[in-house]
Amino acid sequence: MGKESRQYFSDVHRAQWKTKTGFILATIGSAVGLGNIWRFSYLCYDNGGGAFLVPYFIALFTVGIPLMILEFGLGHREKGSAPKSFYKISPKWEWLGWWPVIFVMFGIVMYYAVVISWCFSYLFYSFKLSWGTDPNGFFFNSFLNLSKGPGEIGIIRTPILFSLIVVWLLNWAIVFFGVEQGIERANKIMMPLLFLMTLVLVGWALTLPGAKVGIIKYLKPDFSQLSNPKVWVEAFSQIFFTLSLGFGIMIAYASYLPAKSDLTGSAFTASISNCLYSLIAGFAVWGTLGYMATVKGVPIEEVVNKSIGLAFVTYPQAISMIPSFSKIFGMLFFTILVFAGLSSSISIIEAFSSSVMDKFHFPRKPVVSVICMLGFFGGIIFTTSGGLYWLDIVDHFITNYGLVVVGLLECLLIGWYLGSEKMREHINRVTDGIRLGRWWDVSVKFLIPLILAAILISSLFNEFSAPYENYPVSWLLLIGQNWMIATIVGSIIMTRYGWKKKEEV
Ligand code: PHE
Repeated sequence: MGKESRQYFSDVHRAQWKTKTGFILATIGSAVGLGNIWRFSYLCYDNGGGAFLVPYFIALFTVGIPLMILEFGLGHREKGSAPKSFYKISPKWEWLGWWPVIFVMFGIVMYYAVVISWCFSYLFYSFKLSWGTDPNGFFFNSFLNLSKGPGEIGIIRTPILFSLIVVWLLNWAIVFFGVEQGIERANKIMMPLLFLMTLVLVGWALTLPGAKVGIIKYLKPDFSQLSNPKVWVEAFSQIFFTLSLGFGIMIAYASYLPAKSDLTGSAFTASISNCLYSLIAGFAVWGTLGYMATVKGVPIEEVVNKSIGLAFVTYPQAISMIPSFSKIFGMLFFTILVFAGLSSSISIIEAFSSSVMDKFHFPRKPVVSVICMLGFFGGIIFTTSGGLYWLDIVDHFITNYGLVVVGLLECLLIGWYLGSEKMREHINRVTDGIRLGRWWDVSVKFLIPLILAAILISSLFNEFSAPYENYPVSWLLLIGQNWMIATIVGSIIMTRYGWKKKEEV
């Protein structure tokens, strides 16, 4: 009988972070992900350059940090993963804990791991600059073998499949060894290296001729954009996604903290570091784009690309143009992406595994092994020729609806049902750092729910005004909507099982 199986909400044997730094690094590890590198820098450029930083930082302070404090408070107070924490608040709301951990595990991490595996493959392609003179054709045709649409799945791409196996083995090897020996240790190694490599890449990019042109494009403010509601919606949505909020992750991570913990201070440190990281990484992206535009003698608008295209088409092209040590430049860039990605994917696996361990008292090792197998097999669909379309659709639905609805409901539940004052009192009692003021109640009760409701309405409005990315509506419904429904059904099923009590074991 394992340690965990002897407890029923007694929590005596709950795993713990060894150090506060370890916890903060793991939190930053979860927050800093692929999105910080390619999503943020493009969003900035697309939404008023430096002016985007205004809504972005407003979003960080008004909703990002308060919601992270809430998730930390919840996990810490209830000493549990998301389902256990919500169950302890009210058994009726247990499903709200299952839903996010299910849609991140059987959704986000399945395709997120595939994107990490692309980065992993590209890390090796950088050795030989394998994309040659046509990175676009290389990525979409030779590498992905992209089909015509989501209905045409085609074949499994074996090079991607092999990389995916490696990525899942790494995920498994880290989470398998638990909170302290696995996750904390891996983050303590990966995070400092990630920061260091990013600084080297930024420094390098800034010395390239023409880098300045790119940086000006990246940051030059166009304040007129601030009157556009889209800019605000994008800033707030990015904050939720980048801080890994509404996924049940921060709840699980905070449940491993000791009784006395600086919850508020840690939330400030982790979220501000995450956003500064994005800002700094943007210099590497835009410095490189500026260089590329200068060498080609074209305006920068002609070389920019968003998200996946930026990382796998534009960047490889730029890498080939770097005058010396271009291969090392490429390897550096893709290693950064792999590290950023892995430290996020392990947090997802932990959020789900800890939920299963909390509820059924199964021991960690078999749970993590089975979960990683399921994650790998489920992700195979994204390694097919139609995989990119599937990824795009599933991502669109989960991040636009799942995350937002969970964030909204959790604020209402804690703010109004439990009472944000009660949670604030707990947080202030256990903390030896910054004390939370009443502003937090206002944020949790009114501000965050209102903003999330506005984002939800705007997404629904866009959804109904035109099919997302012009995909056939039937496929959007089949893949996106049904995937969401399946995750909700999954959470209802998990809720129906009874909690395994100590005396039953
Ligand atoms: N915060 C991560 C990023 O910006 C994304 C992420 C999503 C992390 C889901 C964990 C879970 O890329």
